[in-house]
Amino acid sequence: MSFPAIAIDGPAASGKSTVAGRIAARLNYTFINTGAMYRAVAWRLLQTGVDPACVGGVEEALPALSLSFEKKGTVSAVVCEGRVLDEELRAPSVNAVVSMVAAVPAVRAFLVGKQREYNLREPVVMEGRDIGTAVFPDSRFKYFVTASEEVRAARRAAEGVVDSIAERDRQDASRAVSPLAKAPDALLVDTSDMTIDEVVDFIIRDIRSKL
Ligand code: DC
Repeated sequence: MSFPAIAIDGPAASGKSTVAGRIAARLNYTFINTGAMYRAVAWRLLQTGVDPACVGGVEEALPALSLSFEKKGTVSAVVCEGRVLDEELRAPSVNAVVSMVAAVPAVRAFLVGKQREYNLREPVVMEGRDIGTAVFPDSRFKYFVTASEEVRAARRAAEGVVDSIAERDRQDASRAVSPLAKAPDALLVDTSDMTIDEVVDFIIRDIRSKL
């Protein structure tokens, strides 16, 4: 038996986390924010003094990195070294290096394995950059959620977060392995002039029409 995997991809601050979380709650599927996994790896490397720019050092650190998940309601949180991670994942120090860490092929292989494993057990709404292109290329439920750069910058500023989203998007879209990209068969959802409820309703309608 295979479970549905809803793939929600898009650039930074496009609103995809909020949307993915609400869709998961409505469908009673598990919401998995894969950006949090890449952030957890970056956070742990910084914490243990591994230089994120040194690919060899990052690769060497991976096997010892204990990463698991804890579910609260329909939301899956990342647990690292016994600690449920949340606020620390959005620290400016993590923002500054996470794209570099996410470009390391061994890091991607390590995390994509965990992401696919999750869907062997249950239906998921998974949010990231490469879910429709690389993690679940055979999914029938793919959405590329975006918004204009101005709208996205304003959303981040409203959250009071220091984050150079344009630079992160540039790095994420230009890396060699699984770059940020819309899968050819993904539905493009431009949220610039839509409310969250409108986006959620639109995607849920499409999912239900295919279930
Ligand atoms: O969604 P986010 O901004 O929290 O993601 C943090 C970083 O992780 C982002 O700059 C790119 C990377 N990422 C990725 O490469 N692949 C994913 N599936 C999710 C995130």
